[in-house]
Amino acid sequence: ISLRSLWLFTDVNDNVPTIVYKSHNNQVPENIHIGTEVGIINVQDRDSGSNGQIHCSIQDNVPFKLIPSLRNYYSLVTTGELDRELNSEYNITITATDQGFPPLSSSKTIHLSVSDINDNPPVFIEQFYTATDSDWRQNDTGVIHAVRSFDYDTS
Ligand SMILES: *[C@@H]1O[C@H](CO)[C@@H](O)[C@H](O)[C@H]1NC(C)=O
Ligand SMILES: *[C@@H]1O[C@H](CO)[C@@H](O)[C@H](O)[C@H]1NC(C)=O
Repeated sequence: ISLRSLWLFTDVNDNVPTIVYKSHNNQVPENIHIGTEVGIINVQDRDSGSNGQIHCSIQDNVPFKLIPSLRNYYSLVTTGELDRELNSEYNITITATDQGFPPLSSSKTIHLSVSDINDNPPVFIEQFYTATDSDWRQNDTGVIHAVRSFDYDTS
């Protein structure tokens, strides 16, 4: 077999993986249950053999992870509680790397916003009361400081 035909029959790792992200909504409600799927990722590589086998990952410091499903498909799921008041958005970078030599990789950043659920009752810093007390010789106008926020659940 000549060098030329060997070259013809050998796949060269010349295609970078492509990443397609699909979600119903880029808004994630902050009370979403842990482990809920928020989107689906499909990676493709037109190379054959190990040149076309793809490893896919996201960064560590976000409350999301990838779970492999069908071949070349991954679910993006939540791994922790979301709190819009602490983090109102996440930029998640998906990186797909093929197993070729040298490996080729590509990445895509998706933006997720955490949507608000009405979980914070209004906080009264201070309230003004006019107090009338028959035991007192004079009426008293006082300022009462709320020492804790009022909680709808306990009142
Ligand atoms: C996400 O990316 C956008 C656009 O680059 C940027 O404005 C925003 O600050 C980023 N947010 C976070 C939480 O990194
Ligand atoms: C206290 O307030 C009440 C109601 O406004 C009034 O009728 C009463 O005369 C007041 N008493 C004094 C001591 O100011």
